[in-house]
Amino acid sequence: MAIRIIREEGDEVLRKKSKEVDVIDDKIKTLLSDMAETMYAANGVGLAAPQVGILKRVVVIDVGEGLMELINPVIVKQEGEQTEVEGCLSIPGVAGEVKRPAKVLVEALNRDGEKIKVEGQGLLAVALCHEIDHLDGILFIDKVIRFIDRNEKDNE
Ligand code: NI
Repeated sequence: MAIRIIREEGDEVLRKKSKEVDVIDDKIKTLLSDMAETMYAANGVGLAAPQVGILKRVVVIDVGEGLMELINPVIVKQEGEQTEVEGCLSIPGVAGEVKRPAKVLVEALNRDGEKIKVEGQGLLAVALCHEIDHLDGILFIDKVIRFIDRNEKDNE
């Protein structure tokens, strides 16, 4: 496993659409492992492959409920609404409120190529939406309702 370099805003790779994974080979499995290591090292709760410069539909998430590895994730159902403060490892020092579904159902493949379903609410729903957006070149700052001043956030 290895820590990969996290691309930051301004890098055009973050604005491109990622391709579906056709074959889950050793390269994809190494990518998943490296992405998890990179996410944990940066104290993040999620990371999408374009953030490490790879335009594949691969995401890792850990909101404190254990590591989730998602290949070709798709939101198949969503309901409700929530507004929470988000940040992104590719946009250090920036935070803002984003409106997202309160609950989502995501279908994906795991590293063994098995179909899995993930139901998320609260922070997990936010993370799923945020990371899947990355696969389409969308950053949370595109959806921010209100940017939060760092100092303001620290004082809360
Ligand atoms: Ni992000």
